[in-house]
Amino acid sequence: MNQDTQAMLSSYTLPNGVELKNRLVMAPMTHWSSNQDGTVSDAELDYYARRSSGVSMVITACTYVTPNGKGFHGQFSGDKDEMIPSLTKLANAIKNQGAKAILQIFHGGRMCPPELVPNRELVSASDVPAVRPGVSTDDPDIKPRSLTDQEVEEIIKAFGKTTRLAIEAGYDGVEIHGANGYLIQQFFSPHSNRREDKYGGSVEKRMTFPLAIVDEVQRVVKEHATPEFIVGYRFSPEEPEEPGITMGDTLKLVDTLATKGLTYLHVSLADFFSTARRGVEDTSKTRIDYLLETIDNRVPLIGVGSIYSADEARNAFKTGIPLLALGRELIIDPDWVQKVAENKEHEIVTKLDKTKQQELVIPDPLWNIITNSPGWFPGV
Ligand SMILES: Cc1cc2nc3c(=O)[nH]c(=O)nc-3n(C[C@H](O)[C@H](O)[C@H](O)COP(=O)(O)O)c2cc1C
Repeated sequence: MNQDTQAMLSSYTLPNGVELKNRLVMAPMTHWSSNQDGTVSDAELDYYARRSSGVSMVITACTYVTPNGKGFHGQFSGDKDEMIPSLTKLANAIKNQGAKAILQIFHGGRMCPPELVPNRELVSASDVPAVRPGVSTDDPDIKPRSLTDQEVEEIIKAFGKTTRLAIEAGYDGVEIHGANGYLIQQFFSPHSNRREDKYGGSVEKRMTFPLAIVDEVQRVVKEHATPEFIVGYRFSPEEPEEPGITMGDTLKLVDTLATKGLTYLHVSLADFFSTARRGVEDTSKTRIDYLLETIDNRVPLIGVGSIYSADEARNAFKTGIPLLALGRELIIDPDWVQKVAENKEHEIVTKLDKTKQQELVIPDPLWNIITNSPGWFPGV
């Protein structure tokens, strides 16, 4: 085994002293397959167990922290104490296979399907609808209502509550989902946040809500867990909309997040090697390079994005990134890490085999969505 492969499989100690057995993480991926009552289904437990023995850490699909934050059909609930047994089963399915279990916590804001939230009432930082493919932004059904100050405070508290549920359910940590256009990002974005109070305006003011959630989650962790409890934060570096988050905005956010005592930061990217779009001097430089430079080793960064082969993973680590998440590739080949560790890289599968749903242990709703979305997964 060459040195670069060994490095990828070597252990890594997080800032809070927790040791990860290798540098590979499973990216959070929604599976649309939970029970009607919001509990995790057996098919989902089997799906996770199948993917939790190679990587060092599994970040779950996102769970919603309040009923008006439910973002997906078949999403599991993390908003009430009755869910602790369900959340515990999921934590155990992951931990029993040897990986750390991280619960991703989320509110969908203006991106929720109206039929999933109470009174079909979407909420966000302001009343600006999201751009959705095939839907007019004039459609009143997708126009969100701007949250009142009190409601904002309640949602911040709800992120803390879900963190307590995660602690009681035995998770090793939580990841705050500040990426992919959902509520936390909606507050950071000048597209969705037009507020003129303490939560909106300058880039610093737009950070108020994300940072308040970090503070609240950390307060709950101090009160209910030991320092080994992991708190990560995920963000999307840029938005295509005008106005929208620029790379320059994100470097300011990350510079602040790096001072907060988080256990890790996690960028959300479709392509690991993508370059910055705007808001920085050099748009031929990759986002990862910009982020690593700004973070300057103050907190570990997890990279991600279209990594399928072992060669691609080794190239990603050459940037100096300490940890790498694999998403679609672990759906396509759940044994990726084991194959690399056992010198069987040539056996790694990088295109979805459409005859192998059972063998790959993929729940029906997730399988149907993947196989009906041409171009999303290689081989489909
Ligand atoms: C089926 C699917 C569901 C996803 N759900 C989530 C999610 O719940 N939370 C999240 O932060 N990202 C989610 N993502 C994004 C992935 O975490 C990841 O960033 C993206 O797929 C790029 O990595 P990859 O090329 O290795 O798949 C999802 C991706 C896929 C393919």
